[in-house]
Amino acid sequence: MPDTMAFNTAASVPHNGTGSGLAPDRFDKDGQDQLVDIRDLRAALPGIRSLRHWAHEALALRPGENAVDIGSGAGSEILTFAERVGPAGTAVGVEPDPSLLAAAERRAHQTGSSAKFVPGDAYGLPFGNDTFDVALCERVFQHLTAPARAVGEITRVLKPGGRVVIMDSDWGTAIVHPGDPQVVHKVIETMISSTTNPFAGRKLAGQLTRAGLVVDDIGSHALIQDQRAGAGALVARVADMAVARGAITEGQRDQLVADLEAGAASGDIHLSVTIFAVLAHKPN
Ligand SMILES: C[S@@+](CC[C@H](N)C(=O)[O-])C[C@H]1O[C@@H](n2cnc3c(N)ncnc32)[C@H](O)[C@@H]1O
Repeated sequence: MPDTMAFNTAASVPHNGTGSGLAPDRFDKDGQDQLVDIRDLRAALPGIRSLRHWAHEALALRPGENAVDIGSGAGSEILTFAERVGPAGTAVGVEPDPSLLAAAERRAHQTGSSAKFVPGDAYGLPFGNDTFDVALCERVFQHLTAPARAVGEITRVLKPGGRVVIMDSDWGTAIVHPGDPQVVHKVIETMISSTTNPFAGRKLAGQLTRAGLVVDDIGSHALIQDQRAGAGALVARVADMAVARGAITEGQRDQLVADLEAGAASGDIHLSVTIFAVLAHKPN
């Protein structure tokens, strides 16, 4: 699958040591590798940029408000929040991965941002009830073993009237073209079965509604890999996984990659996955 799709895909292995579902989900080695692909490509992805723009417009953060980004990663969005809330507000990123947390803190320091970052995870947010005017959670839900619990936590920390955007991809929307349809199907199935919450995108509105929030809008954007990337790193990685699982043969994998490379050379290639963003608010 394409690097564009890797943008959303770090395959994670749930690591809930206590079995309680309260520990953060962790990425395995493949997932970490994919995250590196993702970070390298992030700025170049028009789909992500567009949906982030939509999210910031939809959330309409005002000076003096309090905002939180859950699973803030390298911290880009919380830096934007910090600019918008100004000195009278607060912008806090919550991140379970110590290296990402440190990277985000360095970035904030280097840019003179007032953004703050705290260790924590979506299952136990380190804040009191009714703390935030705005919450964002981008491309985290597909990694969660207990997304409804995370929505409960987000709802708890939002003030009455507070707004939230949760966005994530849905691997049921993945398109890989060209290629033998049966082989493509097996590769996409492998991607789906190796992702903790592969249909995260379609479930967001229902999960937010069940938590008592009111859904106000749903945005979406197909993340389409740049044709110049050819077959891409992720498609090769997932095809290798499909071979290891016995879902396809080595020959079928090699043919798929060759078909995609030929497609890229002739301009007949399409690798995409759709990401959905749900805007909701907590009733007064
Ligand atoms: C694809 S990255 C997205 C990062 C950031 N939201 C962004 O859009 O740039 C996924 C993030 O989810 C975080 N994550 C994984 N499990 C989590 C959990 N249980 N609670 C909070 N964040 C989690 C990872 O550490 C990582 O930062």
